[in-house]
Amino acid sequence: MAYETLILEHHETVLLIKLNRPESLNAINNKMLMEICTVLKKSSTDINVRVIIITGSEKFFAAGADIKEMEKKNSTEMYLEDYFTNEHNIISSYRKPLIAGVSGYALGGGCELAMMCDIIYATKTAKFGQPEINLGVMAGIGGTQRLPKSVGKSKAMDMHLTGRYMDAEEAERVGLVSRVLPEKDFQIKLIEIAKKISDKSLTSILAIKEAINISYETNLSSGINFERRKFHSLFSTEDQKEGMAAFVEKRTPKFSDR
Ligand code: HXC
Repeated sequence: MAYETLILEHHETVLLIKLNRPESLNAINNKMLMEICTVLKKSSTDINVRVIIITGSEKFFAAGADIKEMEKKNSTEMYLEDYFTNEHNIISSYRKPLIAGVSGYALGGGCELAMMCDIIYATKTAKFGQPEINLGVMAGIGGTQRLPKSVGKSKAMDMHLTGRYMDAEEAERVGLVSRVLPEKDFQIKLIEIAKKISDKSLTSILAIKEAINISYETNLSSGINFERRKFHSLFSTEDQKEGMAAFVEKRTPKFSDR
């Protein structure tokens, strides 16, 4: 299936989604989010897709939600359309790992999309920001909630209230970004890392993502209890037997997702 706003590349079990609206620096419109959701829905039960990368171009990941699409809307329309709510929920509840590869601008909805992913890798040109205040609005797809959890209250307030950008070095230092990677062959490196994840047991991959995400929604003891039950349940898998046997036998495990 051809997409209007995305380019898809399959690299074995890694699916790379490239945002593709260069004329507007990958501004996220309704069509783009709907297409991302279509891809996620299709791949959610596809055993051949184990990890997804969302990336943009060298100069821009995404410069925000599409201001030209929103400009004329009033609050009743936004409320009735429930603007981006459904799409937010589909992306943020996706069960397989989502990696954001950010080079250049990740602003507003672009920063929020990156933060909906599980890991953010960046190049040194990355610029993160929540500049909606300059437009007389505020973040609307998770920016006021996810950014403070990632960088702390003071920096989140600073970014949302002043609209300033955070560069890659600062973003890595404060934990918004997992690693800053070289610009050269950035996409190849992203795929390499995604493949490393993809080679693990899918049962473990899904359980780890679910358990870490639970930590954002629950208290410590409930979260640890959830983790422990998941951990115990993994001992019913062939992958646990294989993984531990491979360690004892000093060989590389061959996981079967069972
Ligand atoms: C629509 C956009 C856009 C956006 C850029 N463009 N960002 N169109 N929505 N978010 C368009 C410009 O209008 C222009 O189109 C073309 O892309 C190139 O942009 P320039 O501004 O000429 O490029 P440059 O001078 O390099 O500046 C880059 C920039 C700037 C600093 C990133 O474009 C910028 O500030 N963009 C807006 C960033 C922003 O405020 N994002 C938050 C959006 S609100 P033409 O036709 O003139 O060539 C948001 C809310 C999320 O995200 C919540 C949703 C529920």
